[in-house]
Amino acid sequence: MNDQAIGIFDSGIGGLTCVKEMNRLLPHENIVYFGDTARIPYGTKSRETVLQYAKQDIDFIRRHSVKMIIAACGTVSSVMGAVKDIDGIPFTGVVTPAAQAACAATRNGRIGVIGTPATIRSGSYGRAIRTIRSDAAVIGNACPLFVTMAENGVTSKDDIVVKEMVARYLAPVKKEKVDVLILGCTHYPMFYDAIAEYMGSGVTLLSSGAEAAKYALNVLTAKNMLSDSEENGKNIFYASDDTAMFEENTRVFLGEDLVGEVRSVSTEELIGR
Ligand code: DGL
Repeated sequence: MNDQAIGIFDSGIGGLTCVKEMNRLLPHENIVYFGDTARIPYGTKSRETVLQYAKQDIDFIRRHSVKMIIAACGTVSSVMGAVKDIDGIPFTGVVTPAAQAACAATRNGRIGVIGTPATIRSGSYGRAIRTIRSDAAVIGNACPLFVTMAENGVTSKDDIVVKEMVARYLAPVKKEKVDVLILGCTHYPMFYDAIAEYMGSGVTLLSSGAEAAKYALNVLTAKNMLSDSEENGKNIFYASDDTAMFEENTRVFLGEDLVGEVRSVSTEELIGR
């Protein structure tokens, strides 16, 4: 059981922020990653469509007999709600882990959340935060263009388009004097420098993907399911669109090459035809 892989999925490359933190925290765990690059974005689609895609993604990940599944996608996590296991396999999204981290980090009880339109519309982060801290003020804003900008490598804090969009999306949140900001979409850490500069040093930024990795470490530790073999620690990445594009986008996204094999999965395979 302990040697089984951890399955992580996202609509694209954003979930790699979770993989990166997993590799750092748990170097002896095998990871199977799936990025649904053929169907990204999820964040502008309806709840029904996102749920249908998430089910197919999870079924695909389960074919690799994993010991835990992480939805490293704010949008999927938001529409699925606080699911803790899938047929006995431990499961987490990014919402609960990020909400817990935000409640621990805030001093003034004012928490900002940015995410895709589907995530913000769902109110998921607000619900999760108020379960932990009922008096918290949660100020959310959707940033619909960020994913497209990220997937096209337009992320530099000195880029005029980035500066403009960060100011436009973050102004309503900054105005509310939050002291913690959840990057509620796993693509958004790409704008970390630009957002940090705009929000100022008094605001703690939390990456939802990285928080999910820390949460998974706690779950696996509590259930005594960690791998102890130094033979493990391999990553396998699946992408539903072109694998060369996936690798190239990742290089831009993470500023480094992927460590692990990249394989392609067709949409037919994905939906189990
Ligand atoms: N990575 C997805 C999320 O965290 C956003 C990308 C998308 O819209 O599919 O919500």
